[in-house]
Amino acid sequence: MLVVVCKWFYVYLPMEFYIETERLIMRELLPSDVDGIFELDGNTEVHKYLGNNPITTKTQAEKIIAFIREQYLERGIGRFATIEKSSGDFIGWSGFKLNTGDNETLGSKRDFYDIGYRFIPKYWGKGYATESSLAVLNYGFQKLKLDVVFGAAEVDNIASNKILQKIGLQHMEQFPYKGNMINWYKLKKEDHAKTMS
Ligand SMILES: CC(C)(COP(=O)(O)OP(=O)(O)OC[C@H]1O[C@@H](n2cnc3c(N)ncnc32)[C@H](O)[C@@H]1OP(=O)(O)O)[C@@H](O)C(=O)NCCC(=O)NCCS
Repeated sequence: MLVVVCKWFYVYLPMEFYIETERLIMRELLPSDVDGIFELDGNTEVHKYLGNNPITTKTQAEKIIAFIREQYLERGIGRFATIEKSSGDFIGWSGFKLNTGDNETLGSKRDFYDIGYRFIPKYWGKGYATESSLAVLNYGFQKLKLDVVFGAAEVDNIASNKILQKIGLQHMEQFPYKGNMINWYKLKKEDHAKTMS
């Protein structure tokens, strides 16, 4: 169990978040990642298929980090900060979000583990989303013992659709959401196990 110093007290994360791949480290998102999150979520290109509403202040970046850290404690999971090993740079995040309750539905979909990724543009095109997501799937099925995970991407987000298919998710359906068409994907534990064997 990992003990982290919060602003006013010690908190215990439900489990240690650490994944290492050939070129990346995924770890818990920390308050000190604020500049990285600001660079990421303040970028219009990054938000092209995410509602076109990038953040404009560091306070918003701090709130994003606080929200994800709250999810670690309350939901046992949240997106992982992703670090490029060769440079030590914060490049963005990847990993699971557990969408819960009425405020986190996607059309008719609710209460699901969503696999996702979001990187600063200078780190795109290096295969990092694919590399991190393959490791995240293993973590989800082996460590979190999930039975099924889901993924969603706007149909025009070619890169994201490619990644979800490449890492083994099955296309299930397409539906409209907030003026865009969404591709909806699913991967069951047993199907993931088959691709690993
Ligand atoms: C989506 C995103 C994470 C991809 O990251 P990445 O590290 O560049 O992805 P990868 O290098 O693993 O590439 C995956 C595939 O997509 C392809 N691809 C990457 N960018 C592409 C683009 N702009 N157009 C078409 N294909 C693209 C790659 O060529 C690769 O396909 P291949 O294996 O057949 O060559 C990155 O573009 C991003 O952060 N976008 C903004 C946030 C976002 O849209 N997140 C997803 C929300 S659903």
